[in-house]
Amino acid sequence: MKAFRTLDQADVKGQRVLVRVDLNVPMENGRITDATRIERVLPTIREIAEKGGRVILLAHFGRPKGRDPKESLRPVTEAVAQHLGKPVAFAEDCIGESAAGAVDALKDGDVLLLENTRFHAGEEKNEAGFVSELAKLGDVYVNDAFSAAHRAHASTEGLARKLPAYAGRSMQAELDALTKGLEAPARPLVAVVGGAKVSTKIDLLENLVGKVDALVIGGGMANTFLHAAGIGIGKSLAEKDLAETALRIIARARETGCAILLPVDGVCAYEFKAGALNRTYGIDAIPDDQMILDVGSQSIERINAAINDAATLVWNGPLGAFEIAPFDQGTVATARHAAERTRQGKLVSVAGGGDTVAALNHAGVADDFTYVSTAGGAFLEWLEGKQLPGVEALRQG
Ligand code: 3PG
Ligand code: MG
Repeated sequence: MKAFRTLDQADVKGQRVLVRVDLNVPMENGRITDATRIERVLPTIREIAEKGGRVILLAHFGRPKGRDPKESLRPVTEAVAQHLGKPVAFAEDCIGESAAGAVDALKDGDVLLLENTRFHAGEEKNEAGFVSELAKLGDVYVNDAFSAAHRAHASTEGLARKLPAYAGRSMQAELDALTKGLEAPARPLVAVVGGAKVSTKIDLLENLVGKVDALVIGGGMANTFLHAAGIGIGKSLAEKDLAETALRIIARARETGCAILLPVDGVCAYEFKAGALNRTYGIDAIPDDQMILDVGSQSIERINAAINDAATLVWNGPLGAFEIAPFDQGTVATARHAAERTRQGKLVSVAGGGDTVAALNHAGVADDFTYVSTAGGAFLEWLEGKQLPGVEALRQG
């Protein structure tokens, strides 16, 4: 695999540096509810500014169809400035006169944020003309947005092929962590995959059974596997039409020697509700009129034992209905166990995906994992074994 260039190789002094960042932060009523993505890109911005580069931030926000004031990056500018501890200028457009004027006004070490790249159709279409318009604004390109690297857009892919391109520090850290997690992991390698549906994770499961030594399946998707194996799951959420897919994945795991760990007991309730009356049953004794909402204590013990055997852990998706107590306990207990093993230096733990980060934060252990990716779709595509266009474009030709 070709290596990619990092900021170590970039000469940014006095240069106009176009830096692609992911500022697609969650917002409620104009307030940012989680600034993790902003924090992640600060080291790259600071380093370029301190080296005397002129930082021009490129980012998308939401999924606008054309220019839409509701999806402006203007409100994010102030947050970036606060976290950075220095002023950040803003330009009303990411190309054209307003962008060029704002870029011209920059001095070495200054920072500028350009308006949402997705206000132009050329962004998502990766149009050559739009790429050229962006490229006019910079001398060098740095991509620090792993979480948008599964998109072959102008600002994530096109520009990397047009200007001298480098990985930023956050992109670099992400790729290092992901390589340690799946490309060249210390073994045994164990994956924990949860979440509601098998249908959204078929490619991921098929890729993982070819790579990991053991695969723990939890969450709603475990029910689909249990049902496919002929086990009664009562009223549990399941995709019964995917029984064949589940059996194919199990058969493939048998071929590759990957152990599959399904729940051996389940915490059951009559309704999906916080605080619902519940009881734990063995997996072959799930009552017809109840639903499984979490893994039971024996399953937790087995999962923790698998984590004890592992040198590397890759985690995506909660093991139960973690958003409603007490059905968060399986996820919390196993996440804390993985965190403990990581703190002891016995485990490399890599986690990612939207719900996963929320679940680890809920368990209070996100900081204890070796690496937690802020990427949703990009993390999943990487787990699926796919090449990410934004990453591929950074590799040296
Ligand atoms: C994300 O939020 O997952 C990234 O910013 C990518 O956004 P997108 O899914 O709209 O391309
Ligand atoms: Mg997304």
